[in-house]
Amino acid sequence: MIDQPARLALATFPTPMERAPRLAEAIGLAADDLWLKRDDLTGTGGGGNKLRKLEYFAAQAQREGADVLVTTGGPQSNHARLTAAVAARIGMRAVLVLGGARPAVAQGNLLLDGLFGARIEWAGDLPPHGLTAFTTTVVDHLRRGGARPFVIPFGGSDSLGARGYCTCATEILEQVPDVRHVVTALSSGGTMAGLVAVLGVDRVLGVDVGALPDAAQAVAAYAAPLIRGDRIDPATLRVRDQSGDGYKRYTPQARAALEMVARTEAVVLDPTYTARAMAGLIAAVEEGEIAPGRPVVFVHTGGVPGLFGHAEA
Ligand SMILES: Cc1ncc(COP(=O)(O)O)c(C=O)c1O
Repeated sequence: MIDQPARLALATFPTPMERAPRLAEAIGLAADDLWLKRDDLTGTGGGGNKLRKLEYFAAQAQREGADVLVTTGGPQSNHARLTAAVAARIGMRAVLVLGGARPAVAQGNLLLDGLFGARIEWAGDLPPHGLTAFTTTVVDHLRRGGARPFVIPFGGSDSLGARGYCTCATEILEQVPDVRHVVTALSSGGTMAGLVAVLGVDRVLGVDVGALPDAAQAVAAYAAPLIRGDRIDPATLRVRDQSGDGYKRYTPQARAALEMVARTEAVVLDPTYTARAMAGLIAAVEEGEIAPGRPVVFVHTGGVPGLFGHAEA
């Protein structure tokens, strides 16, 4: 691992590592095999994985003298919600460029965006990763008005943001030293990239929710600079597809997984990311990719407010 750049302490670390024996047995593992890494409990703004990344972006924004954090996402973006929360906490403004149109009622993450004082720019019917041109216009407008915007990439994912998940991987190794599989949702790629940089490609299973056309490529690109530029072949990454009919849909597998985790461990997942990730873990056990007898860590990356803003859930 290369040297760590500056970060602001905004989250509560290390997050808890909890056993999940009833869930383990329900999905075909032994009771002692399964652990939940509770990154939904990182604290600020409702918590979740994006806080680990935002600690680095917030430090860089301060260093550059910025006064507005700008980022992009879908209407129920957890990353946008936590960007708004971080901006509030460090005394900056937040402008969120979201795909779609303003809904009649703000629910879930969108409700929290407003609560944290963020301004929302609706970009129309574009996929979350396709908002760059619209964002450039918003940033130019902010600059012309005298603001000093700092743009955080889609999903908080690049090599800087991914460092937050190097720290998470280090915590996992301290909490479960003999971990064999680490399972995470994979969307914009930074979370899996940080885990892979520390744990290696063989131990990390990413469950692709379908936000990017080629998520494995993104993971490989963000992880490489963290391991001193060694190239990672995207084809060597362990990725399972749980994208279903699209990012916005609630798949039957995700629904079954969300209900199973709630009813065995009283842990709440979200319909878009963590329920799909759990569905991916369940499928991996069913198909023998993950066998009983070795420790499995499921990273609960948060997103619970999305449960209250998802049309189908
Ligand atoms: C709750 C939750 N889990 C997982 C992810 C996936 O993380 P990444 O975008 O780093 O792949 C996201 C991304 O938005 C998320 O909001």
